[in-house]
Amino acid sequence: MVQLQHRQAQATGARASRFRCVVPLATATLSPSNAIKSVAKAPAVRDAEYTKKVIGEEQKYVLQTYARAPVVISHGKGAKMWDIEGKEYIDMAAGIAVNALGHSDAQWFAALAEQAEKLAHTSNLYHTEPQVELAKRLVENSFADKAFFCNTGTEANEGAIKFARKWARVQAGVDPYSAEATAPYELVSFTSCFHGRTMGALALTYKEQYKTPFYPMMPGHRLAEYNKLDSARAVIEKGKTAAVFVEPVQGEGGITPSEIEFLKGLRQLCDEAGALLVFDEVQCGLGRTGKLWGHELYGVEPDMMTLAKPLAGGLPIGAVLLKQHVADAMKPGDHGSTFAGNPLVCHVACTVFDIINDPAFLAAVEQKGDRLREGLKRTMGSNPHVKEVRGVGLLVGVQLDMMAGGVVEAARDMGVMVITAGKGDVVRLVPPLVITDEEIDKCCEVLGAAIAKVAPQ
Ligand SMILES: Cc1ncc(COP(=O)(O)O)c(C=O)c1O
Repeated sequence: MVQLQHRQAQATGARASRFRCVVPLATATLSPSNAIKSVAKAPAVRDAEYTKKVIGEEQKYVLQTYARAPVVISHGKGAKMWDIEGKEYIDMAAGIAVNALGHSDAQWFAALAEQAEKLAHTSNLYHTEPQVELAKRLVENSFADKAFFCNTGTEANEGAIKFARKWARVQAGVDPYSAEATAPYELVSFTSCFHGRTMGALALTYKEQYKTPFYPMMPGHRLAEYNKLDSARAVIEKGKTAAVFVEPVQGEGGITPSEIEFLKGLRQLCDEAGALLVFDEVQCGLGRTGKLWGHELYGVEPDMMTLAKPLAGGLPIGAVLLKQHVADAMKPGDHGSTFAGNPLVCHVACTVFDIINDPAFLAAVEQKGDRLREGLKRTMGSNPHVKEVRGVGLLVGVQLDMMAGGVVEAARDMGVMVITAGKGDVVRLVPPLVITDEEIDKCCEVLGAAIAKVAPQ
């Protein structure tokens, strides 16, 4: 019902309103609701002094682990957002590939309000329907037999590391709870990969500067060269390797798709070595490539897959999907998380999943990705500093032969938010999957102007 009314709202153009969400229409079927009262109003426009004040207080009170852009974002709608001074941006970052449905989507909000009114959190001491509903969707639409929920991408990889290590101990036939027992425990990852910043995931992550301040790293990590099967073959060893972690399309590393033969070869090497193949689809999964799962592009299935960013459209969630043989190794008490899979986030994630898991939606992502890459080639391609425009679906990178920070800043001044990747020499575009053709075209024009300004020919 909510969905139907939302579609009607779209048809009548009500959704395009800048300052009022169409939430009243979408939530009209809900029982008396405080949520209806919280409909977005146009926030007050502030001046540059106010922006300075907020940034100053952020520096005073928040731990300084981020180099933030000097803007204070106030609100958003679809692929657009506004800062507190009223300046409009096209958001090609989407909270780093998170806001798949864009900002303040009416169905997303309706799902949030509907569940918030009933039950937000119980911990995993009890059963709740939304968690089961989400697990059912993920399992029935993937290679997996079980889902484990957590709260972030790094936590999903942390879980997958533990599942792989315990699976290897069970496979080895030792008592997994014996401190004296030994079994394969090595984990392999690849150059330029990013798997997160907690200690296990960080050990797998490539960039040394993320790791050295926190030495020593978790032992048992082996690094191989991405897209080089011989390099992988040299470190994947029977009796030593527990699991191999790989992003089917590398995100942070520079928007680099795996080669088909590489992923197929990894599958074979893992099978021969009795090791697990784990796909990290935290960034490339759930529709971003134009396929539901990034690995569908390759016809290779993993034993485990990690997910996070877009799954609840902006609420924190992560998940590990597992084949039954891995799931069988885990017992109650082996792993857990207080917040994980709570009914609020899972109910919203079901809505996000249902919208994305529609062949028409996924085909549109593919088309929009083609349009974006073609547009960027047209507007930026003649600049000698542009070496390549690459990617799949709406996971797009522009490889420069210089640092991309200047282009990012110039584009922001002109009203387009993009981010960097790789060694800082790639412009990364990961917009909301609902971005319009018009917004894509405008973004391409702006980026063409931005690189012409920063690096005139
Ligand atoms: C492929 C991949 N894995 C893991 C992570 C870590 O996710 P989170 O920042 O939610 O911990 C990221 C984040 O960018 C990622 O791109």
